Amino acid sequence: MIEATASAPSKFVILGEHAVVYGEPSLTLAIDLRFRVRLRYSDAFRVNGQTASNRNTSPHMRYLYDLHGGKPVSAYVESDIPSGSGLGSSAALSVAFAAALQALEGQPLDRAAVAKDAYEAEYYAQGRGSPMDTSTSAAGGGVALNMPHRKEDLLWTISKEDRTWEVSRFDTPPMTFVLGNTGIRAATGPLVDKVRRYRESNSFAAGIVDEIGDVTRDGLRALRAGDLDELGALMTYDHKLLSILGVSCPELNSLVDAALPYSYGAKLTGSGGGGCMVALTDRPQQVAKAILAHGGTPYIVHTGVPGVTVSTREAGQKQRHRGRGHHGEKKNVDSRR
Ligand code: PMV
Repeated sequence: MIEATASAPSKFVILGEHAVVYGEPSLTLAIDLRFRVRLRYSDAFRVNGQTASNRNTSPHMRYLYDLHGGKPVSAYVESDIPSGSGLGSSAALSVAFAAALQALEGQPLDRAAVAKDAYEAEYYAQGRGSPMDTSTSAAGGGVALNMPHRKEDLLWTISKEDRTWEVSRFDTPPMTFVLGNTGIRAATGPLVDKVRRYRESNSFAAGIVDEIGDVTRDGLRALRAGDLDELGALMTYDHKLLSILGVSCPELNSLVDAALPYSYGAKLTGSGGGGCMVALTDRPQQVAKAILAHGGTPYIVHTGVPGVTVSTREAGQKQRHRGRGHHGEKKNVDSRR
């Protein structure tokens, strides 16, 4: 009996969330909070030992099971990623399941195929959205969507309806980011929908979405120049643009304000409405303290973690790893609360 184990990272967004849904660019970094799954074929669908009918598993899992012929599988899952917090927890789940199901069928790890299957699962579960989270979780490291890039940095292209996203790799200078979790859970779908309705009914909102695209392109130039002052200023400005779109909240604003005195810049990250903010800083301990003092939970993160990894084994044998060490090595998390 073959067993497949997969692990996929979460991510945060440096710049570009929401606007990326409309084909604007984004810049994301994978982080070392991971979702892990162990899968094997079984007589019934099970999750962590509990029988679950195919219909009762999450919609992402249901989509992926059906894509792979609907054979019953037993899944053991565990996650470091707080859900509904803007860190792409459902994308990491989808990526890990897509990779593990492909491995169960005997396919070698193909990150492009995993990213595409996982994006379709997200689209099925959540409706309109971009492949930003799923591609970042599949690829690891630093991932740009719809940005000018060298030919060799193109990872893959994903299309849906009338949109196409070019997914490429970008290199980062050494940087330290601190995340602050408000502890408020907010589902992504309704926030994406809110921006869609606003953008469709109001040319001012459509202009803000375009401006987020411009800010994100400027952000890549600042990153390439190693100009953290400029990048931080763009992040803080982007937070204002996202606030105008109605996806911030008082708790996120409070954590951003608390972090700013010790940071190059700070903004909400992910879909907003709660969840996390992120600060770019070279004083991570002070930022973490300020976030804590304002009711948030800080995570000091470093960049450069591997994308999805997968291994298979026959029950009773050693694991065969696939996809190790492809895209950067895992670095330390200084502290995690
Ligand atoms: O909140 P998260 O981690 O699911 O991020 C959503 C990012 C959005 O740009 C708001 C939506 C998307 O699909 O790109």
